[in-house]
Amino acid sequence: MDRALYLIGFMGAGKSTVGRILSRLLDRPFCDLDKEIEITAGRGIDEIFDKVGEEGFRDLEYAALERICGHPDAVVACGGGVVTDERSVDLLETTGDVVCLSVTADEALSRIAGEIHGRPLLAGPDPVGAASLLGLRERLYERVADFTVDTVGKSADTVAQRIIEWLELER
Ligand code: S3P
Repeated sequence: MDRALYLIGFMGAGKSTVGRILSRLLDRPFCDLDKEIEITAGRGIDEIFDKVGEEGFRDLEYAALERICGHPDAVVACGGGVVTDERSVDLLETTGDVVCLSVTADEALSRIAGEIHGRPLLAGPDPVGAASLLGLRERLYERVADFTVDTVGKSADTVAQRIIEWLELER
């Protein structure tokens, strides 16, 4: 196995949940990119945004992705904004298979209702509306993804199964 599997998509799309299921079913190591950033920085995502802003966070995200690329068999749940940084997009495209979990803004908000922590773009002092942020991102997700699964109305297990079927077709 020589290519990582990257999960992209909006906040609340289910990247971490589906990533953990895939890691178990495929017997591949799992990495949550946000957690990797937090561990390396020694502080939480909200605090990172407070201290260095979104631009500084994207630098840390890119650096974390560079480290993860050294583990080509990993299943990686990326943060929802990874597609906004061209350097990160280059790494995704050149080192792995990229799968987008798509979700509507309403569904995303209802899934993350209790977990606003770590998502300062939705909950910080100057929150961006989920629908407008998703509107800005949709074309980027489409452009970067090799395969997209619509997650609305599907369980995480079903989404994981669709991805496994796609991977089998790809090989
Ligand atoms: C972000 C999504 C978050 C986290 C950060 C920025 C974004 O990750 O990386 O708050 O720009 O969409 P999740 O998609 O895992 O919530």
